Amino acid sequence: MSDVLLQIDGKEVKATQEMTVLEAAQRAGISIPTLCHHEKLEPFGACRICIVEVEARGWTKLVVSCVYPVEEALIVRTRSEKVDRIRKTILELLLAHAPDSPVLQELAQTYGADKNRFEKEASFCIHCGLCVRYCAEVKKKNAVGFVDRGIRKEISFIPEIASKECNDCKECFPLCPTSYLQAAFVLTEALAFPPSSE
Ligand code: SF4
Ligand code: FES
Repeated sequence: MSDVLLQIDGKEVKATQEMTVLEAAQRAGISIPTLCHHEKLEPFGACRICIVEVEARGWTKLVVSCVYPVEEALIVRTRSEKVDRIRKTILELLLAHAPDSPVLQELAQTYGADKNRFEKEASFCIHCGLCVRYCAEVKKKNAVGFVDRGIRKEISFIPEIASKECNDCKECFPLCPTSYLQAAFVLTEALAFPPSSE
């Protein structure tokens, strides 16, 4: 596989052709915030917090770095006024759903996001899909899935599978940026398969 040379934040970075901009940055020790990315999972491109500015052939545009492929001589800026403004707005929208998430609060500090900018609609899940995709792609169990669509979308444990698989696993719990997942599991367990009924 041939190497690709690009520039990220002024630093010359060597990547391989199949890499995304995010992977190239991570390999070079350059940090880009992510909320729906996990190295063991297929890129999802949902949260948009990893947005960066790229410049190629005289054009500058904003791209989602976890799904955008590297290319020769690409110039990448991981922070700029525009990038920071978009990340700030994304965080403010997410904080309306999960105001107590430590992950979001920490990012909010970095980008000056105001957690009270948008009216609270606490749903706690920010739809990053890490739990659903980890269970499907890595564990191949599908014990948790999305139900409904659009703004009504929410995650749900499938009691028949979760009652058999989850107690000895729980690998998805630490992936959740809001800890909603753990609460959803405890509720499903209490309602559908309380420990005392085993
Ligand atoms: S429960 Fe947590 S990990 Fe799962 S989709 Fe929602 S925020 Fe992401
Ligand atoms: S980390 Fe890239 S879109 Fe979520």
